[in-house]
Amino acid sequence: MALDQGGHLSHGSPVSFSGKIYHFEPYFVDETTGVLDMDSVRERALEFRPKMIVAGYSSYPRILDFAAFAEIAREVEALLLVDMAHFAGLVAGGAHPSPVPHADFVSFTAHKTMRGPWGGVILCRAEHADQIDKAACPNIQGGPQMHAIAAKAVMFQQCAQPAFREYAHAVVTNAKAMAAGLMRRGLELTTGGTDNHLMVIDLRPMGLRGRAVQAAFDEVGVTVNANAFPGHGGTPYNPNGIRLGSPSVTSRGMGEPEMDEIAGLVARMLGGFDDPAVRAEVSESSRALCRRFPLPYRGVSTG
Ligand SMILES: Cc1ncc(COP(=O)(O)O)c(C=O)c1O
Repeated sequence: MALDQGGHLSHGSPVSFSGKIYHFEPYFVDETTGVLDMDSVRERALEFRPKMIVAGYSSYPRILDFAAFAEIAREVEALLLVDMAHFAGLVAGGAHPSPVPHADFVSFTAHKTMRGPWGGVILCRAEHADQIDKAACPNIQGGPQMHAIAAKAVMFQQCAQPAFREYAHAVVTNAKAMAAGLMRRGLELTTGGTDNHLMVIDLRPMGLRGRAVQAAFDEVGVTVNANAFPGHGGTPYNPNGIRLGSPSVTSRGMGEPEMDEIAGLVARMLGGFDDPAVRAEVSESSRALCRRFPLPYRGVSTG
């Protein structure tokens, strides 16, 4: 999935190792709906007959059709890799379909919705296990980082708890509430909403650009990320969109009323972007909201 369509740098961008070592051909979303067009994915696959198809995103607010990807991969005799870096925690918590039954390989980062340490995990069919193990060690790995391995074990233990299921479902409910709150206030979201944990606001109607907006939001205590979206017309370094997500605020215990409050702050900021009084007001409100929901420290105390 091309970078400006919601894909990730590591999926073949020419400035990433992936695009230097491998020959990637991108597939696209429908420019009017912003939704991934599986007919065009199939056409691209038939045209290029790749050895592997990569499915996954860093900025796409809908659920991927893993069965359709698998069918296309079978048709062109390609392997299927699903990079679920973003939504692995939702899958673990049963709030999102799993790609595991469909894919030959499934990879994910441990530090996003899984709420684990910095690191990654690769799942694969048994027939590929030996090759994958060797590709990690001795191919690229020096010594094992036991602290990260121990932290991944804790992460998996936490993901297996009922509380994590609640968390994963709340992430999706909260994202939908935040998206609804933004749209009710007149903001345009790519694909018109979300089915997962993230959403992308189109800044073009306000004549704003992503980098300045990201920096201004940082100042007022609201973390957003400048992000491209299909047909946005900006540059990769200064795109016309911002991406927001619900996982971290959900971890703090916030629910749907707070999502609406956040949507109100975002809309207020974008509506009065150059007004220092607006920034001061949003800053105060965002900090007050965070104070009401302090970061939970549920880990073992080190004394
Ligand atoms: C789809 C996808 N794959 C891979 C990565 C890279 O993860 P890491 O943080 O391990 O470099 C990201 C992170 O942004 C991502 O969104």
